[in-house]
Amino acid sequence: MKDDVVQTDRRDFLKLGATAAVTSALLTTGAYAAGSDEIKVGIIGCGGRGSGAGEDVLRAAKGVKIWALGDAFEDRAKGAQRHLEKEAKDNEDIKKFDNKVEVAGRVFTGLDAYKKVIDSGANYIILATPPGFRPLHIEATINKGLSLFTEKPVAVDAPGIRKVLEAYESAKKKNIAVGAGTQRRHQTGYLEVMKRIHGGEIGTFVGGHCHWNMGILWKTPRQKDWGDLEAQMRNWYNYTWLCGDHIVEQHVHNIDVINWAAQAHPIGVLGMGFRTRTDPQFGHIYDFFSCDFEYADGVHVASTCRQISNCDNNVSEGVRGSKGYAECNRYRINGKSVMQGRKDNLPYIAEHTDLIASIRKNEPINELKNVAESTLTAIMGRMSAYTGKPLTWKQALESRETLMPENLAFDMKLETPPVAMPGKTKFV
Ligand SMILES: NC(=O)c1ccc[n+]([C@@H]2O[C@H](COP(=O)([O-])OP(=O)(O)OC[C@H]3O[C@@H](n4cnc5c(N)ncnc54)[C@H](O)[C@@H]3O)[C@@H](O)[C@H]2O)c1
Repeated sequence: MKDDVVQTDRRDFLKLGATAAVTSALLTTGAYAAGSDEIKVGIIGCGGRGSGAGEDVLRAAKGVKIWALGDAFEDRAKGAQRHLEKEAKDNEDIKKFDNKVEVAGRVFTGLDAYKKVIDSGANYIILATPPGFRPLHIEATINKGLSLFTEKPVAVDAPGIRKVLEAYESAKKKNIAVGAGTQRRHQTGYLEVMKRIHGGEIGTFVGGHCHWNMGILWKTPRQKDWGDLEAQMRNWYNYTWLCGDHIVEQHVHNIDVINWAAQAHPIGVLGMGFRTRTDPQFGHIYDFFSCDFEYADGVHVASTCRQISNCDNNVSEGVRGSKGYAECNRYRINGKSVMQGRKDNLPYIAEHTDLIASIRKNEPINELKNVAESTLTAIMGRMSAYTGKPLTWKQALESRETLMPENLAFDMKLETPPVAMPGKTKFV
């Protein structure tokens, strides 16, 4: 058995998801305990979050190397390379682990960069492109048998969610670890609140609220040499096929907290929203959504998300129980802090520490179903608001609407889709 272990290529080991027998041999030989089995990270989508997640994973555990980078655009891939190389040189938290960035010859660009990263020998893939591409990239990563960290949200439409749920089942069968960028699930204060909610401290779930209300976000003005596709991809936040609209892209975090507390997804929604902004650089997304999510047993949760400047901001989640009230984001139950002097952790790092530990122990965590359900909750709210129709979970999950344009190419013609009009826009 020991010889088998010695002959096992470490990359293949992580790729295939080790069998319990092989792992127990490794554990007894101490290979993982020594932290020597290398995590070779391939990052797909090298913008703000991709670079940030690269830094986070380097600070998360020993034995981590940034191995390959992939982005649709060369300036983004090279920018991430420069950023990460500098961090690895200067950042004490990375240096203490002796983690490195070694991507020479493995910086890929173009719409097929994801395939090259997946085939590069990396064994731990980080997905941080705009979410429209996520189902395709998740499917390719799991098909190849690689460990995965996927940013949220994981899709923008129901066909994408169905693909992700298939990938979840496949990852489970193959023993592949999957972490998701719903980092509140790795944050000390939230974990403590949830432990108490699930332990019955506020009784049974009878209602709640969640909000992400803030000012208008960003736009990237079109440059002369950009075709339609590049202009939309670089300004992705403002296009529903790429972003899902802000209820999906951003409010998914707060919705996920409610689903986590409820240990369930809603059974239906009545959603409203609209857009008043007129600047075409803001694409066709809405300014606000307001949803009444219904969970089993007649439990209702109010959700709002708004991106209109000069209004009051509010990013919060609250859960009402039969015996009390949890202010999740304030870490308070019935008005009292649950932290008792404890400090919060760094959840963006903790999510990688937890994922890597689960890989090395061969007890792979798999967060794909949770994040897929929270993403579909948000998509369902958007579909209800866009069409003016209340929807059930089943209707939303079975929706046939695919938002991604066919045959993407940088020289294609691509109009901005119309702004959805409740009462006119059809549910498909
Ligand atoms: N968990 C969090 O708190 C958190 C915070 C910020 C962003 N995010 C998520 O991370 C993702 C990226 O957000 P960001 O702020 O980094 O955006 P960004 O625009 O800074 O980066 C996205 C990158 O993906 C690249 N890209 C686009 N399409 C691609 C494709 N098909 N193949 C390869 N590369 C492609 C872009 O060129 C860009 O460099 C989003 O899903 C966002 O919701 C999560």
